[in-house]
Amino acid sequence: SYNGLALTPPMGFNDWAGFECNSDMNETLFTKTADAIVNLGLDKLGYDYVNIDDCWMQHDRDANGNLQVDASRFPHGMKWLGDYIHSKGLKFGVYEDAGYETCQGAAGSYGHFQQDADLYASWGVDYLKLDYCNQPLDQYPGMTQAQVAQIVYTQASQALLNTGRPMIFSESAPAYVCCSGSNFTNELTWLYQHGNLWRYGSDIADNWDSVIRNYSEDNTPGLAQWAGPGHWNDADMLETGNGGLTITEEQSQFTLWSEMASPLLLSTDLTQLSPAELAIVGNQDIIAVDQDKLGAQGTIVHSGADYDVLAKPLSGGDVSVVLFNKADHAQTISTTGATVGLSQGGPFQLTDLVSKQETSSTGTIAASVPSHGTVIYRVHPGAPKKLAPAGHATIDAGDL
Ligand code: GLA
Ligand code: GLA
Repeated sequence: SYNGLALTPPMGFNDWAGFECNSDMNETLFTKTADAIVNLGLDKLGYDYVNIDDCWMQHDRDANGNLQVDASRFPHGMKWLGDYIHSKGLKFGVYEDAGYETCQGAAGSYGHFQQDADLYASWGVDYLKLDYCNQPLDQYPGMTQAQVAQIVYTQASQALLNTGRPMIFSESAPAYVCCSGSNFTNELTWLYQHGNLWRYGSDIADNWDSVIRNYSEDNTPGLAQWAGPGHWNDADMLETGNGGLTITEEQSQFTLWSEMASPLLLSTDLTQLSPAELAIVGNQDIIAVDQDKLGAQGTIVHSGADYDVLAKPLSGGDVSVVLFNKADHAQTISTTGATVGLSQGGPFQLTDLVSKQETSSTGTIAASVPSHGTVIYRVHPGAPKKLAPAGHATIDAGDL
């Protein structure tokens, strides 16, 4: 990692998907969110960043060129809010834009990267998401969008380093300027040398088609190899709790994002999560897949017309396998140890990371998967365990 940060994918909260610039995007939302993360024990599971997206600043800078907080939303200012979030043992993130204005038309950071970085540092900021609306292309005649992005993101990255304060750097540029097909080697080379994560795909929205779209974009062939400790593909926020997905679909988004080693950023009123939703985002075994220290991004290793099989190698030799049913009907999805990268082919043990049921298999990995659902197994090479806990039958998954 270029700055020693984000050795596993960032986890926490960003308000945008759930709140955009609605009137309830204000100081109370962030203090309430910090309280809820602690009260629900989500901090113990790794959710530690509380990040503010667009609309925290005004359109105009002050006489000294400093960004000005929108005091109608944040009456105590950013330093106060950062202190509050830190007092809960959490970390504090903000948003800016590398162009003239943010996507919502507030003051952009272009021409002020160092001044703004110093201001964030003075507030105790731990994470910057730098968007790329309103690009300053006119400053660089004859250059391509991608070349300009490289210049300004490299400058902004250096400005953060110059402060001496560790700040995760989240880059939005590829979602705007990247790339023709899978020809992104040039862009990803500088993105990963100067930042910790980047948005490649679309803005997530609260519906199943959007989940599928972002999932597909982050499975663009060749993209996964750029993920690793300190540098991640960001499939965008989780929609859990926002009402547009079924519980099955919420589970699938969480499972797929974890399999892809995407950041896990909640974006809803955490105090309103149902017990079923809390069980999804609080699933330690699936979080462990996302946060595995090897840092591999899981990839699609086999596809049918309406299903995918994904595999993610884990540290220690286990493999996380996801059977993903995109169809509008339940179906049995089946793969093999060899397909998911277990060269010895079997035997192995399977742990269903949702039901916690353990099974063993000599070669086949299969399950009946509901429509829009996923089954995620942690596959451990070796002979089956002899002592299954009472009530947990040991069956051969190959017989399903
Ligand atoms: C863009 C980004 C979003 C969000 C908004 C804010 O659309 O992709 O994630 O930050 O801007 O305006
Ligand atoms: C590609 C590049 C390498 C390195 C890795 C990162 O293979 O060629 O230089 O950046 O991706 O995973």
